[in-house]
Amino acid sequence: MDDAQLEAMFSGVIGQEYQTLKLICPLAAKMSQLVGEAIEKTLSNRPDQALSVLELGGGTGITTLAILMAGELVSVVSVDSEATMQNQAKQSLQKWAEQGRLNFDGRDALTVLQNTATASVDIMASAYTLHNFLDKYRAEVISEIYRVLKPGGQFINGDRYGLDDISAHTRVTQNEVSGYFKALIEIDKLDVLEHWIVHLFADESENHVMRETFSLQQLEQVGFKQVILSNRCEVNALVSAVK
Ligand SMILES: C[S@@+](CC[C@H](N)C(=O)[O-])C[C@H]1O[C@@H](n2cnc3c(N)ncnc32)[C@H](O)[C@@H]1O
Repeated sequence: MDDAQLEAMFSGVIGQEYQTLKLICPLAAKMSQLVGEAIEKTLSNRPDQALSVLELGGGTGITTLAILMAGELVSVVSVDSEATMQNQAKQSLQKWAEQGRLNFDGRDALTVLQNTATASVDIMASAYTLHNFLDKYRAEVISEIYRVLKPGGQFINGDRYGLDDISAHTRVTQNEVSGYFKALIEIDKLDVLEHWIVHLFADESENHVMRETFSLQQLEQVGFKQVILSNRCEVNALVSAVK
């Protein structure tokens, strides 16, 4: 599927939600596509084999759709502890749920992982979810992801990965804030602007930030190999790793 087709698919299925995200944070929309493309690549290396994906923080379904679009043989369990978010995904992605390729779980990520069998999942995929976790909770989630993946299974996460250079990180984040103001004042969405600024304070707090080197080492420490950060764009990047 080329970029234009994918774009039409997202706009059609996810609608207004996707357009708003693209306006405020175009890189966030792009990161979900990169997660989907990474899964597509995995599928191309193992044709005709079914692929089970555990998605953490499916939200309104943007990343979920990108994962489903990777190929017919992909099945997804999409986890999100916020019913209001997950209900939107349930509506938009009903077709895939009816086909039996998509199931939803409304429990929190760690609880779901703790109740998932060891070595039972091909891919853990996610976008913009892990950075929301408190560092201690995230450390437990990462150990559990390693446990539930099959040998050779993959961790694929498109997310906010903080720059190691803290001054550079601050500059990039300041530009990001300016961007929110420009985009949202223009369309008179001051309530959304307030929400994003308030949320950003949590993202940037010391017990949330996923600093690049620390995060990659954290994956290696639980046993992951081939830990790679790619597609860095400002504070966003795609991280993949293999069990
Ligand atoms: C920023 S959204 C990302 C949604 C989607 N992946 C995307 O990129 O558009 C993060 C989602 O993670 C969910 N979430 C946050 N903490 C969670 C947790 N501990 N367990 C499960 N879901 C969680 C939130 O409810 C939210 O829907």
